[in-house]
Amino acid sequence: MELVTKSKTSVIDIGEAILDNAGHICKSLIKSGKVAVITDSNVAPLYAVRVCGSIKKAGLCPALFIIPAGEEYKNLNTVSEIYNFLAENLFTRSDLLLALGGGVTGDIAGFVSATYLRGINSVQVPTTLVAQVDSSVGGKCGVDLPAGKNLIGAFNQPDYVIIDTSLLKTLPDNIFNDGMAEVVKYGCIFDKDLFELLEANNPRDFITEIVKTCVGHKADVVKKDERDTGERMKLNFGHTVGHAIEKAGNYTSHTHGQAVAAGMVYEARIGEILGITPKGTSERITALIKRFGFETRLPCPAGEVLDAIKADKKILDGRLNLILLRDIGASVIHPITLRELKSVMVV
Ligand SMILES: NC(=O)c1ccc[n+]([C@@H]2O[C@H](COP(=O)([O-])OP(=O)(O)OC[C@H]3O[C@@H](n4cnc5c(N)ncnc54)[C@H](O)[C@@H]3O)[C@@H](O)[C@H]2O)c1
Repeated sequence: MELVTKSKTSVIDIGEAILDNAGHICKSLIKSGKVAVITDSNVAPLYAVRVCGSIKKAGLCPALFIIPAGEEYKNLNTVSEIYNFLAENLFTRSDLLLALGGGVTGDIAGFVSATYLRGINSVQVPTTLVAQVDSSVGGKCGVDLPAGKNLIGAFNQPDYVIIDTSLLKTLPDNIFNDGMAEVVKYGCIFDKDLFELLEANNPRDFITEIVKTCVGHKADVVKKDERDTGERMKLNFGHTVGHAIEKAGNYTSHTHGQAVAAGMVYEARIGEILGITPKGTSERITALIKRFGFETRLPCPAGEVLDAIKADKKILDGRLNLILLRDIGASVIHPITLRELKSVMVV
């Protein structure tokens, strides 16, 4: 599949056991030179040898950089260490950067590729479900500041995305399930068939089909709205309340998936109160996401969530764009003032 935006055309390959194509794909992007493989300390022992071997076999020179695993390393220090590594190894704009890992690795490496020498080509090889269905596609990248998550960043489309769903086999269940919150989100906002497939099956049995469907939706939206000013905002379903839950818990009480899962149920309920979402929708979402071990009630009083929403960077002039469901599989962007929102936020 191709993702054509104003800034670049990215190629996205999705399949099982396609990791060993990495070298050949790098070679199609640069004729000679070096490939910096950026990965984390959990993913390196699993897949780095294979990726570096495939790069060598293609006649290119791999250089491995390993980040300690964890969101706490998604910061400017790590970025700076990678800049120094690239400079010491004499990387130029005719070389390549390859991100091998989850969303943390992809976001850091994507940001480095956007900024080192004002931009160097990149390949994303996502290894978590979140990264495969969401973060590796669409070009958003960046790092956290002590003041908040993802406050530094860029839009930077990768040249190539290699999505090998067999890499998910080594993913622990809790991390796989965290990604299922995003998968359910695609069903809620765009795709009733996907939602029903998830209701009736174990997603691990259909994972390649599911990933292809989700990436197709993400690519469609990004094609129309690369800069997140229109249609792309629909991907925020569950995230206004979800981000607030994460913030209220100091980013330690909930994983992103747990917070988004509760956020989707709560935002569906708000839609029901406003008469936009058919009654019973929030119960249907609840039943599905409970299967992935998610708690669906708000973990703190609605007032605390509202306070956290007030600090959301997406609020302009006291209004925000809430994503609501017209039905399972159909979503709308609903501008709402904080006052209106307060009036429909029930405990
Ligand atoms: N740029 C975007 O559009 C976008 C979208 C969604 C999320 N994100 C970002 O993504 C990050 C979360 O991503 P994540 O959930 O992938 O986190 P992550 O990268 O921290 O990965 C989660 C854990 O899984 C391990 N892991 C990765 N692949 C593995 C594999 N195949 N087998 C075994 N273990 C493996 C990692 O080492 C890590 O410990 C957040 O920083 C978030 O802000 C970005």
